[in-house]
Amino acid sequence: MANKTILKWAGSKVRIMEQLRPHLPKAKRLVEPFAGSCAVMMNTDYEEYLIADVNQDLINLFGALAFVPDGVIFEASVFFNQNNNHSDYYRLRNEFNSPKSGMSQVRQASLFLYLNRHCYNGLCRYNKQGKFNVPFGKYKAPYFPRNEIDSFCDKAYLTKAKILNLEWQDTLSLVDFNDGVYCDPPYMAGRDSFTQYHTTGFTDADHEALAIALKDINDIQGNPITVSNSPAAKELYADLGFSIHEIQAPRTIAANGNRKPATEIIAVLTGVKS
Ligand SMILES: C[S@@+](CC[C@H](N)C(=O)[O-])C[C@H]1O[C@@H](n2cnc3c(N)ncnc32)[C@H](O)[C@@H]1O
Repeated sequence: MANKTILKWAGSKVRIMEQLRPHLPKAKRLVEPFAGSCAVMMNTDYEEYLIADVNQDLINLFGALAFVPDGVIFEASVFFNQNNNHSDYYRLRNEFNSPKSGMSQVRQASLFLYLNRHCYNGLCRYNKQGKFNVPFGKYKAPYFPRNEIDSFCDKAYLTKAKILNLEWQDTLSLVDFNDGVYCDPPYMAGRDSFTQYHTTGFTDADHEALAIALKDINDIQGNPITVSNSPAAKELYADLGFSIHEIQAPRTIAANGNRKPATEIIAVLTGVKS
């Protein structure tokens, strides 16, 4: 059974870890430029991790947990115990969306965790102004992920995890010769998938730039690379020489409520040492 994650996250790899694991790079450190809920980190045994994502709220939460776990656990558990109703949800969402300059990292992180577990379907969606705009989820008893927090904190400590708020290009510039790279970008359009995690989407041009950058890293530095994506990206990766594997993935969050399994691809370039 796969380890669950602190956050609900669209595109989480928890349910396909058994299928994904054999294709992941063999390396001392795993670099994940699209880390999301850290499902891959929590279900693999690399000695070290570099975890990055463009979502500032997400990385703020992981950073706060790595440095001041007790503060987040205390503050978030107060939110979970007293605020599972419509009006408190919108009050706390407004506070989260207010200017962050005067807010502590712990409070921001605790509010984000509360919103993730109390909002509709665990979605993480922002309007054009960057305000979190997911409605109240109306769950009877939202789960406080205490065990998952403890496991994450232990793992981050033991593996000296670097947790960074970066665009993928900046993360790739930090890839060292002995690293393995796993990329799980928002799915390429062409299926009814959920692709918008932040205010800007991930375009076909972004997918192409990512695939080429990964091929260059593999050519120049020899790093092993693994990428997850939708079948729409199959040709792009196959043309660049990646081996393509197809798997059936159960859906967690679909824009149209469709929860039938969907085909995903895993594209692999082996490294010089693989
Ligand atoms: C499919 S999700 C990753 C899911 C993750 N593997 C998991 O198991 O939870 C894609 C992630 O890419 C991030 N992302 C989107 N655009 C990005 C960009 N330009 N640079 C870095 N991360 C980005 C999103 O914030 C989201 O967390």
